[in-house]
Amino acid sequence: MAHVSDLIAEDIELYLKTHENKSLLRFITCGSVDDGKSTLIGRLLYESKMLFEDQLTQLEADSKKVGTQAGDLDFALLVDGLTAEREQGITIDVAYRFFSTDKRKFIVADTPGHEQYTRNMITGASTADVAIILIDARKGVLTQTRRHSYLVSLIGIRHVVLAINKLDMVGYSEEVFNRIDHDYRVFAKKIGLQNIAAIPMSALKGDNITELSRNTPWYSGDTLMSYLENVQVEDAAEQSGVFRMPVQWVNRPNLDFRGYSGMVVRGSVKPGDAICVLPSGRESHVARIVTQEGDLETAISGQSITLTLTDEIDISRGDVLATTDSPPGVANQFEATVVWMTDEAMLPGRPYLMKIGTKTVTANVSTVKHKVNVNTLEQVAATRLELNEIGVCNLSTDQLIAFDPYSEDRDTGGFIMIDRLTNNTVGAGMLHSALRQSRDNSQWQNIDVNKQAHAAIKGQKPFIIWFTGLSGSGKSTIAILLERKLYSLGKHTYLLDGDAIRHGLNKDLGFTDADRIENVRRTAEVAKLMVDAGQIVLVSMISPFSAEREMARELVAQGEFFEVFVDVPIQAAEERDPKGLYKKARSGELKDFTGLDSPYEAPENPEVRIDTTTQTPEQAVEHIINYLLGIGVLG
Ligand code: ADX
Repeated sequence: MAHVSDLIAEDIELYLKTHENKSLLRFITCGSVDDGKSTLIGRLLYESKMLFEDQLTQLEADSKKVGTQAGDLDFALLVDGLTAEREQGITIDVAYRFFSTDKRKFIVADTPGHEQYTRNMITGASTADVAIILIDARKGVLTQTRRHSYLVSLIGIRHVVLAINKLDMVGYSEEVFNRIDHDYRVFAKKIGLQNIAAIPMSALKGDNITELSRNTPWYSGDTLMSYLENVQVEDAAEQSGVFRMPVQWVNRPNLDFRGYSGMVVRGSVKPGDAICVLPSGRESHVARIVTQEGDLETAISGQSITLTLTDEIDISRGDVLATTDSPPGVANQFEATVVWMTDEAMLPGRPYLMKIGTKTVTANVSTVKHKVNVNTLEQVAATRLELNEIGVCNLSTDQLIAFDPYSEDRDTGGFIMIDRLTNNTVGAGMLHSALRQSRDNSQWQNIDVNKQAHAAIKGQKPFIIWFTGLSGSGKSTIAILLERKLYSLGKHTYLLDGDAIRHGLNKDLGFTDADRIENVRRTAEVAKLMVDAGQIVLVSMISPFSAEREMARELVAQGEFFEVFVDVPIQAAEERDPKGLYKKARSGELKDFTGLDSPYEAPENPEVRIDTTTQTPEQAVEHIINYLLGIGVLG
């Protein structure tokens, strides 16, 4: 669900390559600086001998400076130093640190521990196999411990180390250790955390980090390092039956190659496999698995690949490729748990961007069903979520999305919510299940079935795309293609074409200026009604006069009318002359022909201008779609 910056991803890749043949464990540390978190991470890095010589020298010098007891290295300084180094170049909220031992390699996500940094914790935790929950032995289980544990359980981390730290400060008391261990397990049981290893330790003194400490003779379990080296975590092979790959981008370097690139997030895939594309539901077979190092026989979870298919089907960024026999669900209404991470409260009805896998849609919370008190785990009635609050909500999205319940798949069931103005991540969540469209049936008499309601049930924003241009410019060709594209994106569309309307509704009209004005007026009124009905309307007519195009624009709300000028030099249109009308007009058989003996007023500021001498109809469609995506009306 989280998206690490490219730079970090590169670091991780390099690191993984260096230690290729060892298994990898990702873990997160939860706790605050006061609990000894930096010290613990520093200690692990130190013990694994992953520190570079100059860093060690610096550390010794720094430790002396702050007056640490001779011989004791202040590991917190080390970690904070690394963080500072990082921050010179880029600002990141989560620092990823790498180390390895003879047995395993590790990536630890180090997240700031203050209460308001829930967001960072979620980012770091989203890919972790193990969570280390740090507890200061003098303080015991705190609200923050409960909150972090609750998040760990929501995120689906199955293995927890309860690191009861600073035991040296309580005289290495077995009783204190047992009491905290007991308190924690009572809480953990309620939130479904099962695999808990409690370890008594002092990260500062090194007790039970790599060797069992003589200070805790009553403890004979794992040291922290031996636990991390040996804990069995689920691997990709276990889920090999079910294949999922969100499409990151469509790779189309030339007309002969069309590949779909992305990371396999679950299962495996090989040439010949039947796959389906969600949300469209179209099916095909895998032709090749292309990588920079050549074709693969099979690709598994975690690998980034490009797939080619045996059929040409419409696939775009954000679609999910999946096994046909066990595909993800497709819906636009969900029940989800949402964790709110920003000062400004989450308000039901407000649209946010929702990023799930590689897809971004517009989503709003229709109702907050309840929020959770992380201390008592009680369900509390709520109408909104404040900073750090966790609630179960009903969500609706403006487009259909492919998803799995989060409990089955973190990648296709986890999402983040982004503020549309600031672009900040403001929430994170887990999808549980799709909701049926049906509302509370007892309330139907009170539902206001207005434009918003029509649009909401279709899960889209309605608007008009108005194509204008000379006869033979290619308006209808582009409009027909655009409608196909929008339909494939799950949109409810309708195309009002000048020629067709002149055969029915407007068959009483000819081509005088007055008739053209009336032709445009009626069509614009019909388009407006359709927008009211929640529809996306494509209009294709010459509409030669600016005044009537402006009139059409003013019939709908601001931001619901987009003028597309299909610009063609009259010579080019006349040369094409698809219907032979220019010829007839030149010979005098047709009167009042636009561009010849009837005027055409080209738009001065159309939303989109298509130059048909340089753009193919497909490129024109891509141009228009990109424009619509850019302004957010497609979600
Ligand atoms: S508009 O000017 O009133 O907006 P509209 O787009 O509905 O025109 O109809 C134009 C179509 O009618 C052209 O594509 C062409 O096939 C046909 N047509 C017949 N006579 C004329 C004419 N005199 N001028 C323009 N188009 C004509």
